[in-house]
Amino acid sequence: MTALKNDRFLRALLKQPVDVTPVWMMRQAGRYLPEYRASRAKAGDFMSLCKNPTFACEVTLQPLERYPLDAAILFSDILTVPDAMGLGLYFETGEGPRFKKTVSTLADIEALPIPDAQKDLGYVMDAVSTIRRELNGRVPLIGFSGSPWTLATYMVEGGSSKDFRKSKAMLYDNPHAMHLLLDKLAQSVTAYLNGQILAGAQAVQIFDSWGGSLSAAAYQEFSLAYMRKIVSGLIREHEGRKVPVILFTKGGGLWLESIADAGADALGLDWTCDIGEARRRVGSKVALQGNMDPTVLYANPQAIRQEVANILKSYGSGTGHVFNLGHGITPEVDPANAGAFINAVHELSAQYHQ
Ligand code: CP3
Repeated sequence: MTALKNDRFLRALLKQPVDVTPVWMMRQAGRYLPEYRASRAKAGDFMSLCKNPTFACEVTLQPLERYPLDAAILFSDILTVPDAMGLGLYFETGEGPRFKKTVSTLADIEALPIPDAQKDLGYVMDAVSTIRRELNGRVPLIGFSGSPWTLATYMVEGGSSKDFRKSKAMLYDNPHAMHLLLDKLAQSVTAYLNGQILAGAQAVQIFDSWGGSLSAAAYQEFSLAYMRKIVSGLIREHEGRKVPVILFTKGGGLWLESIADAGADALGLDWTCDIGEARRRVGSKVALQGNMDPTVLYANPQAIRQEVANILKSYGSGTGHVFNLGHGITPEVDPANAGAFINAVHELSAQYHQ
């Protein structure tokens, strides 16, 4: 395996010294880039991009050609796991994800298989190894998965939801059924992430996009407990290097202390919490990733630079910070503004690493 030319992302996650704060953007390969839209048109649709390792590799590398990013993230989707469990994922243009089959009863849940990472999700493993080869040590590759709770909401609702009506009703009406579903998802995600690590992912992130919609008690029992279980089953060292794990609960700011206790190396923060305060709350237990409001990228480059400066100042000196947005970059952002953001992080952060 080629040595890493730029490992500051992995070093910051492990709280080792860095020269400048590393930066990447959630959803960095996506519709705000004209070259992404061209590849998607060539492939036909979004799932064809995901299922063809050559296309998945092409779009993963596109943002790295434009910007000096410190990490690449596998191009795929969190919903590949429920798809491999037999639900039939498809995307209606402009409508978001949909499933042909949904899960509503205990019997539906009992019938769900645990997918085999190689047999059922081999296209993702192939994408990971293809991207690793093409990266050739430029920057580390991040693998990812959805959290069990986040995946369960899509499986029970049949797609995106504003209020999680069906999934929350199941949680309260039939907690036994919900726990069985979450347990199967935790097993599936553990195998899926370990498959990605063995295929070449050098860090992994769990996206708990909808954990923040739960009550404090329900979050502990129905989301965090299953992420903890996954973390305890992950391969933590591969190719002679630690494989850092990042937990990102959107809306999890109130629960940072307990998330920091779940065994991961780093926490992803959305933009609603102050990163300096978050650092004081989690102490030296974990690194932090985040947390600029993605809508700041609609402002002008000068304002973007100021917001980057504010976040760097709030975090303060020393390692343990990976700069990111507090959630994914949106399709309407001007690519030049994303470039201004990334350059500002590198230029303004050197003073904090002396
Ligand atoms: O970050 C990256 O660049 C890697 C790729 C990535 C995608 N989805 C590609 C994608 C990642 C990490 C995801 C994760 C994902 N997918 C999440 C968790 C992250 C989050 O945002 O909280 C969720 C909830 C999903 C499910 C999903 N996939 C939705 C709700 C949608 C439609 C929403 C939308 O933006 O239109 C998708 C589709 C999707 N996944 C797109 C991309 C680039 C857009 C598809 C297209 O090209 O039309």
